[in-house]
Amino acid sequence: MVALSPSLRSRLATPLRIGTLEVNSRVLQSPLSGVTDMVFRRLVRKYAPDSMMYTEMVNATGLHYVKQLPVIMEIDPNERPISIQLFDCRPDFLAEAAEKAVAEGADTIDINMGCPVNKITKNGGGSSLLRDPETAEAIVRAVIKAVPVPVTVKTRIGWTDQEITILDFAKRMEDAGAQMITVHARTRSQGYNGPAKWEWIGRVKEILSIPVIANGDMFSVEAAVQCLEETGADGVMCSRGTLGYPFLVGEVDHFFKTGEKRQPPTAIERLQCAREHLQALWEYKGDRGIRQARKHMTWYAKGFYGASDLRGQLCLVENVDHGLKLIDQAIEAIEQLGSDGDDRLDEANVLEMAIV
Ligand SMILES: Cc1cc2nc3c(=O)[nH]c(=O)nc-3n(C[C@H](O)[C@H](O)[C@H](O)COP(=O)(O)O)c2cc1C
Repeated sequence: MVALSPSLRSRLATPLRIGTLEVNSRVLQSPLSGVTDMVFRRLVRKYAPDSMMYTEMVNATGLHYVKQLPVIMEIDPNERPISIQLFDCRPDFLAEAAEKAVAEGADTIDINMGCPVNKITKNGGGSSLLRDPETAEAIVRAVIKAVPVPVTVKTRIGWTDQEITILDFAKRMEDAGAQMITVHARTRSQGYNGPAKWEWIGRVKEILSIPVIANGDMFSVEAAVQCLEETGADGVMCSRGTLGYPFLVGEVDHFFKTGEKRQPPTAIERLQCAREHLQALWEYKGDRGIRQARKHMTWYAKGFYGASDLRGQLCLVENVDHGLKLIDQAIEAIEQLGSDGDDRLDEANVLEMAIV
């Protein structure tokens, strides 16, 4: 059974201070491209009202050339605290983009210095900034000069195992004025594979004064507690663990605040959440929302009898009514199974849950 040590409990009892901003939660929902749109963030916030959320990453160069802001920058005036994440390698474009982001309502500006995708790194953005710390410093300085809100950085521990540069890099970001750093404890060459190397987060924490947020493999309350105990980090950021499970940030936040585990949602509650997600994506984005919903729906359909068949059908969903009907049928089938519905896992699901 997981428990908080007295020292961690007292650390968690204080708000997270990001420069001038005070956040009453030490669990953050990470930026996830193609996922953390306004619809998803609203679901996460339902269970974690105090937590910091991030938009999907926004291309600063793209913003320079368009008159209308992209949908991914849209913020609901009621959703706070919220950060807009930007990526690019040009300090001037990033400064300009940050001004637009603040006008949109961003409480902080986060600069992506961790994305491993070739399309981004070959243009000098994302994790390639780990190899160009002078430009990274210039970016932080330029953005700070342009906006009145705190500027933060999200990065990785290095380019490869042979090139772990996070200690020097993180110090440089702090010296340039960054008000918080999130460390995804993998190298660029790891992508999303292999375990996160949390020990590097602990080493960063030892040398910085600004808040250090731990990221990588935060799939459960237990992982979040273990990571904070081991690293001394100021908070945790949940990422893939929230795919098809917008309850996670709230579960971790609840545990951090009370020391008690929140009852996890039943299969039916997860499917009801999937239903709400699908309906809201349709209302917000129309047909494009339905195409985007397919992957979300398959993430929700896990861990109950008939889930693998449902996944096969949900990934082909053509319209909102079709999707809602499939989900309703699945809910009905589980209801008919009674309380066994959650437990009667088919073989494929057992295997899949073990992998997750
Ligand atoms: C689908 C997907 C999209 C992502 N998009 C972003 C992004 O827009 N900005 C960012 O900084 N990181 C992004 N990431 C990285 C995550 O925020 C996080 O750093 C990474 O998944 C490690 O945490 P985890 O092991 O708990 O998943 C993305 C990851 C995934 C899987």
